[in-house]
Amino acid sequence: MITSKQLRNSWIKFYEERGHKNIGAVSLIGDGSTGVMFNVAGMQPLMPYLLGKKHPSGKTRLCNVQGCVRTVDIDSVGDATHFTFFEMMGNWSLGDYFKKEKTRWTFEFLTEVLGFDKEKICSTVFEGNDAVKKDTETAELLKSLGIKEENIFFLPKKDNWWELEGTVDTPCGPDNEWFYPREDGKDSSDFLTGNRYVEIGNDVYMQYKKKEGGKYEELDHKNVDTGFGLDRLLVFLNGLDDGYKTDLFDDAIKYLEKVSGLSYDNDEKARKAMRIIADHTRTATMLIGDANGITPSNTGAGYILRRLLRRAIRYCKNINIDAEKMCEVSKIFIEKVYDEAYPLLLQKESYIIEEITKEIK
Ligand code: ALA
Repeated sequence: MITSKQLRNSWIKFYEERGHKNIGAVSLIGDGSTGVMFNVAGMQPLMPYLLGKKHPSGKTRLCNVQGCVRTVDIDSVGDATHFTFFEMMGNWSLGDYFKKEKTRWTFEFLTEVLGFDKEKICSTVFEGNDAVKKDTETAELLKSLGIKEENIFFLPKKDNWWELEGTVDTPCGPDNEWFYPREDGKDSSDFLTGNRYVEIGNDVYMQYKKKEGGKYEELDHKNVDTGFGLDRLLVFLNGLDDGYKTDLFDDAIKYLEKVSGLSYDNDEKARKAMRIIADHTRTATMLIGDANGITPSNTGAGYILRRLLRRAIRYCKNINIDAEKMCEVSKIFIEKVYDEAYPLLLQKESYIIEEITKEIK
């Protein structure tokens, strides 16, 4: 069993050992500059620096584990894989190293830290188009590291290009995605069709600025933007198929089973309700306890928070528990799960609980 705390710490340690500064997580609430309400990717707060501005730390190698909130899939929460809050483990080169170092480090992290077998790693790279050439350079580097040629796939822009949807004047570029088979002992022949491979992470070679009308302008310097989803990786590393079974949710689900008297494993309706209550309470806790914390309201980000809380309250009714039990769920996240990574939540604990209680009332 690898815990969320171990995974977070091993990421930071690995990149600190390679000269990166841990810049820590910043507020989940967007500053409005890109029109996106919440941080949806670890690179979002770093946008100005990826476009060339000097980072305040003076460093050109950065890493962190950044919380992100995405509510577009809110109606899918309740299944085993959707969450409205997740953490992205990231590292960046701001005009510093590029493909050679990045491919090697991702490879080392996967094989030496996570213990992956290099024979089974699959990787996808950009096949090129009229504007940007085929990324044979990355493919060659992957081969030189020992990744099998038949496990390297060239894919088009829809698969191997990363940009923030719906934005302009933002950095973007071709990417190199890393995959690993879910089960042992199988070949990789159906990589492009089946669901047997899990996406482990993504190295974006950010060297363009996206302009109005879908045009791309080359940046003066080349960046790397890496994102590995902590929550999904944790599920995979622990051999699970349910995102609510990792240590991030274990205590919250056990608590909900205890107070409802219902079984998560054996009662489908209760399982869905417990997932929604746990997910939405976690996101609400994060948004209220954020450095730029928000409160429930009828407009903008505050309305999304209100919707999350009210949906969770409704599902408490479905399993016949008093909605105030959500406060206990929130305390589990604050005190046991995110105490190390988000110490601000501990400082703001009584305020968070007060705001959740007000909304319930
Ligand atoms: N920005 C890239 C992502 O979110 C790394 O996948």
